[in-house]
Amino acid sequence: MAFSFNFDIPLRTEETNDKENKDDKAKCVDLKCSEASATVSKKIKDAVEHQLLLDPLSHIENWMPETITIGALPPLLCLNESVFEKTAPEREDSEEILAKTLTQNSDLISGVYEGGLKIWECTYDLLEYIDDAGETFAGKRVLDLGCGAGLLGILALKRGATKVDFQDYNSTVIEQLTVPNVFLNCEEDDENKEKSSRPPSKRKAPLNASEKLLDRCGFFSGDWNSFLRLMQNKTPLPKYDIIFTSETIYNTDYYSSLHNVFCDLLDENGIVYLATKSHYFGVGGGLHLFEKFVERNNVFQIRYLKDVEQGLKRHVVSLTFKK
Ligand SMILES: C[S@@+](CC[C@H](N)C(=O)[O-])C[C@H]1O[C@@H](n2cnc3c(N)ncnc32)[C@H](O)[C@@H]1O
Repeated sequence: MAFSFNFDIPLRTEETNDKENKDDKAKCVDLKCSEASATVSKKIKDAVEHQLLLDPLSHIENWMPETITIGALPPLLCLNESVFEKTAPEREDSEEILAKTLTQNSDLISGVYEGGLKIWECTYDLLEYIDDAGETFAGKRVLDLGCGAGLLGILALKRGATKVDFQDYNSTVIEQLTVPNVFLNCEEDDENKEKSSRPPSKRKAPLNASEKLLDRCGFFSGDWNSFLRLMQNKTPLPKYDIIFTSETIYNTDYYSSLHNVFCDLLDENGIVYLATKSHYFGVGGGLHLFEKFVERNNVFQIRYLKDVEQGLKRHVVSLTFKK
């Protein structure tokens, strides 16, 4: 069964959107970086920093990963959603998202499952933009926010980032998709170096070079408010040169917590790359509303980097601190 593009959230009318805009406006008056954390809406899911499993590939020994090739970027390996559809009953599913997405045939269940098990199309737009722009990531600290499969962070890791943190709402996504994908790609690097002839389906625990690569990664789950609190408890406060975030502005309720993460965790000279559809039908969010939210807060400048006109319009934009 294929996952379908639908959202298990009540449809919003123009009237509710208008009300939300007013609520957002009320929420974000005086919103200024860390002080904004105090204005944030309710907690949804506690943040957790995940320790790496000994062999995160043990679940997928018999599954061939998909290879994603974009322009001159290194090929990226990843598990595709059919693996989860076929193996859901055998997997740890304490959040019950594997079972729910299958039975409800839904891409997203607001507050329960935020869509991280599939790769959304704006991730490909952002990868294409990175390919065109020739970004290398050497020496950069990177956060893949709302990472799902983690392809953006994995690319940064492969291209020399000093630190890559991956965050997703769901712990199941981090443990069963993001971490295995990072291992798959790290192992692939070792295989390239060692010119091994081992068939790709026979996966095993990572080698030394991969372990070093993984030392540069952190894995986090939970909602953005509690993720930010968890990071704020670290000394020194982590700062990122690059924050990637793809298909994360579909729900206006999350705008203030997302904005707070940008405010507090982006380095003063850093850049957020945000890839998004113009509008998310059935959910109500989209670039126009997010842009208005950002403008009202007057902290970041938005620049359009890439527009895709086919079908539903999509965009890649950057956010940098106003100087
Ligand atoms: C539609 S998925 C996109 C996944 C991936 N970035 C992609 O493009 O394929 C949205 C992602 O945003 C994250 N997300 C959405 N709302 C969130 C919230 N309130 N707190 C934390 N993460 C959230 C989820 O982790 C989810 O993976």
